[in-house]
Amino acid sequence: MRTKIIDLLKSSATNSTVNVKGWVRTRRGNKQVAFIALNDGSTINNIQIVVDIEKFGEEFLKPITTGSCIHVSGLLVKSQGQGQSVEIQATAIEIYGTADPNTYPLQKKGHSLEFLREIAHLRPRTNTFGAVLRIRHHLSYAIHNYFNNLGFYYFHSPIITASDAEGAGSMFQVTTLDLNNPPRNEEGKINYAEDFFGKPTNLTVSGQLEGELGAMALGGIYTFGPTFRAENSNTPRHLAEFWMIEPEAAFYDINDNMDLAENFLKYVIEYALEYCKDDIEFLCKMYDGELVDRLNFVLQNKFIRLTYTEGVKILENSGKKFEFPVYWGADLQSEHERYLVEEHFKCPVIMTDYPKEIKSFYMKQNEDGKTVRGMDVLFPRIGEIIGGSEREADYDKLMNRVNELNMSMDSLWWYLDTRKFGTAPHSGFGLGFERLVLFVTGMTNIRDVIPFPRTPNNTEF
Ligand code: 4AD
Ligand code: MG
Repeated sequence: MRTKIIDLLKSSATNSTVNVKGWVRTRRGNKQVAFIALNDGSTINNIQIVVDIEKFGEEFLKPITTGSCIHVSGLLVKSQGQGQSVEIQATAIEIYGTADPNTYPLQKKGHSLEFLREIAHLRPRTNTFGAVLRIRHHLSYAIHNYFNNLGFYYFHSPIITASDAEGAGSMFQVTTLDLNNPPRNEEGKINYAEDFFGKPTNLTVSGQLEGELGAMALGGIYTFGPTFRAENSNTPRHLAEFWMIEPEAAFYDINDNMDLAENFLKYVIEYALEYCKDDIEFLCKMYDGELVDRLNFVLQNKFIRLTYTEGVKILENSGKKFEFPVYWGADLQSEHERYLVEEHFKCPVIMTDYPKEIKSFYMKQNEDGKTVRGMDVLFPRIGEIIGGSEREADYDKLMNRVNELNMSMDSLWWYLDTRKFGTAPHSGFGLGFERLVLFVTGMTNIRDVIPFPRTPNNTEF
């Protein structure tokens, strides 16, 4: 049996024999004694192994280099040196796997994040990615905790769908047809009746529409799964495959929805601060000195709530030159969102009541006939972290909008049925999981907060 390093470092059972297994981070020392820093992924911290060279023989110890994997038995003792409380005096060492110093790419510390993206199969072994991936895990767990505590059920929406929830059109098609020789009908168009599902299908861009069906039965649900968007946007905040959390709640209006979003974000950030302390402190020290302060700031302050119309006024009066012009009706860009959050309010913002033209068909229409009850949560350094709305619950109003937008009923009839049978006021939102991880880790590129990022021309690992 092995003991994990996270437990050994907290252990008071000194002078007992322990077994530890992990990967060598560094090896230093002199002719008599070698010091091996060993890491097993359970914590950012290494345990120091003290090796009497004469006892094992130099030849035996030679392959124990950075990146190799070993099993050490030894005595857990109070550390003589600085920087660690306990260390292990090795009595037996088994070498599981070597890592040739001439070819193993992670020899030194301090590789650039760009370089590490090129070796995504090995980067989880670095301190940085170990920290990010552990934080990612704890945040996922906290999300399930939060909704479970609230009595919201985890609802599994499909990955393959025939609908386009956001109407954005940037979808990945799913097909088993032979692309070199697809079946065609008389008009020469591809005959999808012969495709696997008998109609065109794609990877989901959002689980919301199915989530609404769940909420209309279970009261409160949330989805948490991968979503796919084929937007060719090579930005530090977009992935082609990202994870989204989408709660949907019956009997919630837009204000309840805003409260939910704010409480939810604060809960998971607080959870990370408590359970990922070492990792967050490491990232704060290495990358972003203001990280811990920023996280605490979000916890301690009420998010500013304002309408799109008010936001546009502030932007127009800001005297600032933006790359994209601001006017009522414009879809706000990340530069506008970040101006409001970082420079104007210096606080997270929830913006509501957007022009209907720039939002999805399902949002509840306001009395003014121009705006809808959408809400975006805007965060420092991230811009939009959450997008959501109260939903249009009235069948006729929703149908009018569907017709106005020339949307196809064929793939949406089941969604519209919810408004026919026992419709209810309801609301929901989507949190981009990687954007949350970006915020909590202080990383600046979304490619660095998911193990295997999917972006244009990038599926090597
Ligand atoms: O604002 P979006 O498009 O909203 C929806 O999909 C709704 N169906 C959500 C709902 O009401 N249930 O996306 C929601 C969030 C965004 O705020 C952003 O955080 C994230 O998903 N997101 C992305 N994250 C990474 N890469 C992308 N390409 C993303 N597109 C959206
Ligand atoms: Mg959005």
